[in-house]
Amino acid sequence: MADILDYGKLGMGTWFLGEPSGNRTEETAALRYGLERGIRIIDTAEMYGSGRSERLVGEAVRPFARDKLFLVSKVLPSNANRRNMEHSLDASLKALQTDYLDLYLYHWRGGTPLEETVEMLENMAAKGKIRTWGVSNFDLEDMEELLALEHGANCRTNQVLYHLGSRGIEVALKPFQDAHGIPIMAYCPLAQAGTLRDGLTEHPAVRRLAAELCISVYQVLLCFTLAQSNTVSIPRTGKTAHMKEIADCLDIRLNAEQLALLDDAFPKPPYRVPLDVE
Ligand SMILES: NC(=O)c1ccc[n+]([C@@H]2O[C@H](COP(=O)([O-])OP(=O)(O)OC[C@H]3O[C@@H](n4cnc5c(N)ncnc54)[C@H](OP(=O)(O)O)[C@@H]3O)[C@@H](O)[C@H]2O)c1
Repeated sequence: MADILDYGKLGMGTWFLGEPSGNRTEETAALRYGLERGIRIIDTAEMYGSGRSERLVGEAVRPFARDKLFLVSKVLPSNANRRNMEHSLDASLKALQTDYLDLYLYHWRGGTPLEETVEMLENMAAKGKIRTWGVSNFDLEDMEELLALEHGANCRTNQVLYHLGSRGIEVALKPFQDAHGIPIMAYCPLAQAGTLRDGLTEHPAVRRLAAELCISVYQVLLCFTLAQSNTVSIPRTGKTAHMKEIADCLDIRLNAEQLALLDDAFPKPPYRVPLDVE
């Protein structure tokens, strides 16, 4: 069973893509450009534009061999139960024009007993509709509870917010996942173009590295999460020029000195903090 990290450390996010207000042609071109540059993981969700993002992804990947791709989608908490999950998954498969997902995520924890959600995820895997499953926005206690359940250890990732300006997961959650061999999927690795943390892209350390390496401040942010072990980063863009910057990061390795500069500017918190979601 292929794991997400077998498909690389960089994927493409798709939140807000496929919206009527966006430029569908440009967004499709950006995703295809990313695939041509060797990015094979695409992250979407039934929630994103109520299926519009999944439909755009389905269209964008059509010219590419399915077995070279790693398609990820997510089920809403209200559908992560016996009654609705298979129906939701079938709709995602149809929108994505595929007969299986490589990874299906429980988007965030809702009211359904965790046992029931895991039972359904296992059921979907047994039917061949998903290859693997995982969770999203689970904090340490949620992961501990999950791993204590029958089949809970089949969880293949926890997708959480992680960027240079939000490093709380490094205190306890990431070490726990590292110890259990469960990769982090880092969402918002660009801190939503810097808007999630005041002063992030203006910080002298970030600007200095960008100037030194002749890259953008957004590339500095992405290079930071790409440098982390056991972590897949899923930045999103609807623009080919920005996707070029994202793909170029595959060839940039921050050295120890450069990472230390960022670490000094934005250290991880000295104690555990609740999981950030924005
Ligand atoms: N599991 C969850 O609960 C959850 C929550 C949030 C996100 N996610 C996933 O994670 C993905 C990434 O997170 P995100 O989309 O919120 O934020 P993000 O990737 O941190 O940032 C996206 C923003 O950065 C801009 N951008 C991208 N490349 C750029 C570049 N080279 N230069 C300047 N600006 C650039 C994009 O605008 P342009 O389009 O103009 O380039 C967009 O405004 C999502 O798309 C989604 O797949 C999951």
